[in-house]
Amino acid sequence: MPIILAVETSCDETAVAIIKNGKLLSNVVSSQVDVHKKSGGVIPDVAARLHVENIISILQQALKEAKIHLKDIKAIAVTRGPGLITALHIGVQAAKTLSLILNKPLIPVHHLAAHIYACEFVKKFRFPLIALIISGGSTAIILMKKHLDFKIIGETRDDAVGECFDKIARFLGFDYPGGAKIDELAKKGKYKYELPTPLLKDRYNFSFSGLKTAVINLVKKEEQKKEKINYNNLCFSFEKVAIDTIIQKTFNAVFDYKAKQVLIAGGVSANSYLRENMLLMAKNNNIDIIIPPIWCTTDNAAMVAKIAERLYKKKMFASFFLDADPNWKINDFCNFE
Ligand code: KG4
Repeated sequence: MPIILAVETSCDETAVAIIKNGKLLSNVVSSQVDVHKKSGGVIPDVAARLHVENIISILQQALKEAKIHLKDIKAIAVTRGPGLITALHIGVQAAKTLSLILNKPLIPVHHLAAHIYACEFVKKFRFPLIALIISGGSTAIILMKKHLDFKIIGETRDDAVGECFDKIARFLGFDYPGGAKIDELAKKGKYKYELPTPLLKDRYNFSFSGLKTAVINLVKKEEQKKEKINYNNLCFSFEKVAIDTIIQKTFNAVFDYKAKQVLIAGGVSANSYLRENMLLMAKNNNIDIIIPPIWCTTDNAAMVAKIAERLYKKKMFASFFLDADPNWKINDFCNFE
């Protein structure tokens, strides 16, 4: 396999990775999270400005760590979408420029597909496979019958689960993004606050906005009654309801589609309660599972590089007219021209 350079700027991480024969030569990520903490969320224009400021030094660092020169690169991969359009543009323009100057193919990559393929750093895929993607922007159950073939069979009807974690965290006064803080407090808590299970009857689809409102209303009521909220118990009660629903629906899909393997991907896949209980559920039902290492649950370019090797073999290259697409659907990911 030739050396591929991958670029990722879909939200608030500027990242470049270089891969050769499935082995990462470098993987550099610069997170903007400390800047966005101050505003309580990602501001698209600020994200774009920081990507512009960082991209060249991240590129240089990735080349230096990989101990290679730009002329050794045989293809350029880039996250084309979904994501923030202001942020996606920077990576796509950088990748198109490199591709033009070096006269090497451009490989557009779908962000969620890249999250799924991060799991290939752990082990080979076995089909049919059910992928659970849970992040700040997405909550979806995807069926894969073969490589690069994605079918969404369940998704959220409103908030993504990460968004729900972040909004509750913000309401409780925690820093953005608050998912990890809720996870940390939940470890010390018990199920003491009764919360409604969302969309109980739907086998694969999710809804989290009702759960979010229920948590907020519960806190307000307790405050009115001058009751002290136990944050650890509240975080665990919320986390348990949200994650149990996700696990239940994922395994509905695993059983219905007779999946040989199940995997988790995206920022919320770092959640410790989810990781522990997905493993347990898979073990009890004799289903092979891939749990990605924490470093590749957050946005990075290594996952873009990983899937790009497969796309390179299939010659899935794009012309320079291709632009970022913030609403790119994973189902038609392989028909981008
Ligand atoms: O994949 P990602 O970087 O976001 C998108 O690209 O959309 O994931 C970020 C999300 C945030 O909502 C963050 O709060 C959540 O992942 N997250 C967690 C944990 N770590 C990160 N949620 C729950 N438990 C965690 N340990």
